[in-house]
Order: sequence, then structure tokens, then C-alpha cells
Amino acid sequence: MNLGLLYFSATGNTEKISRVIKNRLEEFGCTVDMIDITPLSSRKGGFDCTSYDALILGAPVHSWRIPRVVREWLPNLSGDRKKCAIFLTYGGFQINPAHYTTSQLLQKQGFSVVSSAEFLAFHTFNIGGWKAMEGRPDESDIAVAREYAEIIYARFSGKDSNLVGELEKTSHPEELLDKIEGFRFRILTQVPTRQGADCCMCRECEEFCPTGAIDAMTGETDPSRCIACLGCVLRCPEGVLMINDMTPSWKFKLKGEHITEEEMNGKKSRIYL
Ligand SMILES: Cc1cc2nc3c(=O)[nH]c(=O)nc-3n(C[C@H](O)[C@H](O)[C@H](O)COP(=O)(O)O)c2cc1C
Repeated sequence: MNLGLLYFSATGNTEKISRVIKNRLEEFGCTVDMIDITPLSSRKGGFDCTSYDALILGAPVHSWRIPRVVREWLPNLSGDRKKCAIFLTYGGFQINPAHYTTSQLLQKQGFSVVSSAEFLAFHTFNIGGWKAMEGRPDESDIAVAREYAEIIYARFSGKDSNLVGELEKTSHPEELLDKIEGFRFRILTQVPTRQGADCCMCRECEEFCPTGAIDAMTGETDPSRCIACLGCVLRCPEGVLMINDMTPSWKFKLKGEHITEEEMNGKKSRIYL
């Protein structure tokens, strides 16, 4: 079976799970091409799925849905009734409509969604001081990813056509979800900005940025394009890209989500469908 595994990953969590799934599927004799759709250049045009028997889509959850840039790019795909498996990584908070909305987008493109799974992973905002799911994905998450690859194989090869359960529909209208997406800038009040004179001008930040939001020459980020993925901050070799201290919002976030750190840490990755 020839499979395409499309993934978006700014800080490496989704990529890590992608590799586990790829390696396990290869043990079953599949060929798996990993296609990184994080770079802006990779999403400039469409993507030809014709050489693949089925597709896998991996993405982080950004404010209850997969990142807007991925959502907006998916209409470039033509599913032709091919099977597709979804997996999401997330930082331990709510991701309520993410599975459903992603499957809806894929179905609209003509894919048949056969499975979906979610994996715990350190929250991007830990880079700014949060403490959500530190050290994840760990061995327990990797084990679920291996198991998920087995299910993907069974579903793709037709050995298992029985879907267990169905994706929970969301009652949240698109406008509300868009509004929730805007809340990230209440937490990230200072988008990545260069401070100090130690920049080596490697332009790594600019080359990485999935939306072309950062200008390495000026060291400034366009807030209207920034998706708060913080991949630039993580990659900056000199550590000169600064954001605000998010520590104060961590306790506030836990309170708002009615969850304690202990409860969060007890969460498990799971195969949803
Ligand atoms: C803008 C933004 C919004 C996020 N929203 C959520 C969320 O709604 N729920 C959650 O649990 N984690 C959320 N996260 C955390 C990411 O889903 C998580 O860290 C993910 O594993 C990052 O994947 P990556 O390393 O592949 O980029 C968010 C992260 C960012 C940057």
C-alpha cells in the first residue's frame, strides 16, 4: 500500500507522532511518504494524491480546530473517494470540535474518513511559561500511536471496516469558533519580536514561518498573519526572539477550563474512531 502522510508541525509534536505511525505502517509493508505542509512554500499550490492508495492527515489543534492555514489549504486536495485517517496532537485542554470539523473538511474534498485519534503533547505556550503536558508525547503516547497505525492499516486494507462509534458533532457555529481562535492574542500579547543586537541574521525564523509573518531584517512580526505557533522562537539559535511572559495566564487558563494540573497529567492519548 502506498500512503501519503501529510502533516503540519511547528514545534515537532505532530512530526514525532507522524514518524511513529510511518514506521509502524512500514512494518506492515506499506510505503509511507511523509509530506511536511508546515512551510508556506509547501502550500503554494495543490497536492497530487493520485499516486497514493490512501492518505493520513496529522495536525495540531489550534483553538479547537486544526490550524487555519491547513483548513484553508485542504480544498486543494482531491480525495476521489480515497480513504483518509486523521490524527491530532494537543496540549491537554479542550479540543471539542476538532475531529468532526477536520473530517467534514476532508469529506467535502471527496475523502472517506475511516479513523481519527488524538495525542497529548506539550502545549506550545509552555515556551512562554505554561506547564501543560510537559514531557509529552511520552512512551504511553507512542504506544497509542503504534496501535493507531495498526488500526489505520486494518481500515485501509479493508480487513476492518467496522467503525466503532462516530465523530461527535459540534453545535458551535463557525463564527463562535472563529472568535475563540482570536483569543490566543489575549495570551500571546507580544508576538515574536527581536530584542537585543545578537541576531546572526541566519533568517531561520523567516524561512520557517508557516505564514510569512516575520521579517528577519526588521525582526518584527505581522500580528495579522502570525498564527502564534512559536516555531520561530523555538528555532532561533541566538534566542533573541521574544514573546511576553505567559506564566500569569497559566493558572487563569486552568481555572477557566475547570481542570487541575494533576487531572491534566492523568489524561491519555486515545483512538477516537
Ligand atoms: C495558537 C494555538 C492554539 C492552541 N489551542 C489548543 C487547544 O485549543 N487545545 C489544546 O489542548 N492545545 C492547544 N494548543 C497546543 C497544541 O495543540 C500542541 O502544543 C500541539 O501538539 C503542537 O503541535 P506541533 O508541535 O506539531 O506544532 C494550541 C497551540 C497553539 C499554538
